[in-house]
Amino acid sequence: MYIFKAAVVGAGTMGGEIAQVISFSGLPVVLKDVDQKMLDKGMETIREIYQSRVDKGKMSAGEMESKMALIEPTLSYDSFSDVDIVIEAVPEKMNIKKRVLADLEEVVPETTIFASNTSALSISEMAAATKRPGKVIGMHFFNPAHVMKLVEIIPGLETTQDTIDDVVMFTESLRKLAVVVQECPGFLVNRLLMPYLNEATYALQEGAADATEIDEKLTEFGMPMGPFTLMDMLGIDVCQYVGEYLYSEYGPRMEPAKFFYELVKAGRLGEKNGKGFYGYGDESDEPVKELLAAFPKAGNSKFTVERLVYPMINEAVLALQEHIATAPDIDMAMIAGTGITYQGERKGPLAIADEMGLDCVLEGLEELFQQYGERFRPARLLKTKVRAGHLGVKAGRGFHEYA
Ligand code: 3HC
Repeated sequence: MYIFKAAVVGAGTMGGEIAQVISFSGLPVVLKDVDQKMLDKGMETIREIYQSRVDKGKMSAGEMESKMALIEPTLSYDSFSDVDIVIEAVPEKMNIKKRVLADLEEVVPETTIFASNTSALSISEMAAATKRPGKVIGMHFFNPAHVMKLVEIIPGLETTQDTIDDVVMFTESLRKLAVVVQECPGFLVNRLLMPYLNEATYALQEGAADATEIDEKLTEFGMPMGPFTLMDMLGIDVCQYVGEYLYSEYGPRMEPAKFFYELVKAGRLGEKNGKGFYGYGDESDEPVKELLAAFPKAGNSKFTVERLVYPMINEAVLALQEHIATAPDIDMAMIAGTGITYQGERKGPLAIADEMGLDCVLEGLEELFQQYGERFRPARLLKTKVRAGHLGVKAGRGFHEYA
């Protein structure tokens, strides 16, 4: 099915950015919210993105206006009678998502695809609440959505192959990379990223290093921004929420660091309100230092880059052994979704493990497991690979094959 017209429901930052991406590809898009202020903010986000392109000489003011004209901001469902796909980007509450889908079902054609930009919630559960489970799918964009190349495509249990194919083609027409991921909590990228962000926060709250040092070391390693800068961009409340959800689904290895709660309680939500791990504009990070000083310290806690990277690698191995995605797709998704590199090359966590040597990664995880417990319990497949001598690049094979 060719998609001629799209709609985005929810005009928050993500909804606005998604509508910008669609309009940029030349398709008309309806942007709907229930709140005029949110709608205005969404349109402002879109205009700012286009304006930045104009300022950089990447498009003319006339082109910007013709792209803006493709977007129809609205508070009603009046223009939904001919949309081919709706992407919902409403708050991450299952009951809100289900209500939106029920409302949509009343106003769109039977053939319309329902895509959810949820970062973690079950697509199958959303689908089950509709009369068209075969046409419900996850379409998970990454922050900032107008820049990051990846869109995770998550079929639910009943999503049809036609829907998957249509959405992959639509994603590619937006000049994005579509990676199909089997449904699991956090899908692929958040599932792998959260243990890394969580561990950074454990190291910080235990007094092993400060945020600036940890950020610097991780950018030296090859991340485009350090974990605390990234969490400030994502929102500390979002990290806390995703962390709690993953903990409830995966158990002890995902237990969120307590410091998230301290920050959220203190109203430090990240860049969006000018204060998170760092201060922005008139805000400083002094209150964070005070909160940290009052936090009980762990005397033997040490910060190393490996302490943050190994849990991400280990989770990648767990996702691989559960067949959530193939090894090349896991690496590609992490490269396109987080910008990760290693020694100057674009490499995902499994390829990085191959470079480091799977025996070294396993030994490192075992030591960290002795010291910090469940967050580092090595994946079964990693142990099997080491036992079989598939040690990575040095052995000619690990998670990938090498000539
Ligand atoms: N917030 C919003 N937009 C930002 C930003 C921020 N903090 N930082 C940069 N940008 C935008 C800029 O405005 C610019 O947009 P433009 O092209 O329209 O002017 C664009 O990003 C490129 O910025 P720069 O030229 O400054 O490029 P950088 O080289 O500094 O790259 C980056 C910026 C692309 C954000 C890069 O640092 C990066 O890749 N960071 C990692 C981001 C990441 O990991 N995202 C995934 C998070 S997980 C997620 O989103 C899932 C969700 O469910 C929680």
